[in-house]
Amino acid sequence: NPRDGISLGALQFAIEHNPIKAVLTISNFNNPLGSCIPDEKKKDLVELLARYDIPLIDNDVYGEMYFTEKRPMVTKAFDKKGLVMLCSSFSKDISPSLRVGWTVVPARHRSTIEWLKFTTSAATATLPQMAIAEFLESGGYDHHLRRMRREYASNVALLSQAATHTFPPGTRVTRPSGGFVLWVQLPETVDSMELYSLALQNNITITPGYLFSPTNQYSNFIRLNAAAWNLPIARALQRLGEMVIEMMARGQAKK
Ligand SMILES: Cc1ncc(COP(=O)(O)O)c(C=O)c1O
Repeated sequence: NPRDGISLGALQFAIEHNPIKAVLTISNFNNPLGSCIPDEKKKDLVELLARYDIPLIDNDVYGEMYFTEKRPMVTKAFDKKGLVMLCSSFSKDISPSLRVGWTVVPARHRSTIEWLKFTTSAATATLPQMAIAEFLESGGYDHHLRRMRREYASNVALLSQAATHTFPPGTRVTRPSGGFVLWVQLPETVDSMELYSLALQNNITITPGYLFSPTNQYSNFIRLNAAAWNLPIARALQRLGEMVIEMMARGQAKK
């Protein structure tokens, strides 16, 4: 669900009918939905998985980018059985080029995870870690996050509003309470891969919904990045809206 995330009913059904080894979530400001699992529901999710002894791997990479008063909790906070692995990184809120992240893992998995990290990428460079530690200690990170939250809240609202007005009737646009991605459902006849190619020819990049499904389920969905809002982006959105309308007209003409 674009608002409150994973359906616990559907998850329970999946568990009862499939040999599920682990569950992977982005519980705070999911990419691409923007959904945030409410804290009470996170507790229910952890309890449901605990009943079946199924590990939960929760990626909290967007957790600090909330527009609400309080930071949403992490699922790990409800973990009584040591089944939740919390992962995060500074890739989204400082810079992906730092390549610094962290994980909070159940004690019994620690050495396996350390071994896997060692065998996939050996060491993480020390200098970026020291720079981040100083940024955290000096209060610079908190200041940076406060500014980022204000900016993203405003940009997400502006792009969401503009997209609602720009795309043809029948379009649905999310209005997430954190993060910076918008999930857009276009009219059913619009093929997002065709739109992606057309947009690219006009130097506009969107993410086609196909990327988020192994079964081509989201052929008429696109993800927009709302981290920035300025005149060139407003113009690009306008052009994208025209492309959608042109595509729909061509589709009608073919019939
Ligand atoms: C859902 C999600 N998790 C994590 C990352 C970042 O991963 P890393 O910390 O390896 O840069 C990204 C984006 O690159 C992402 O979209």
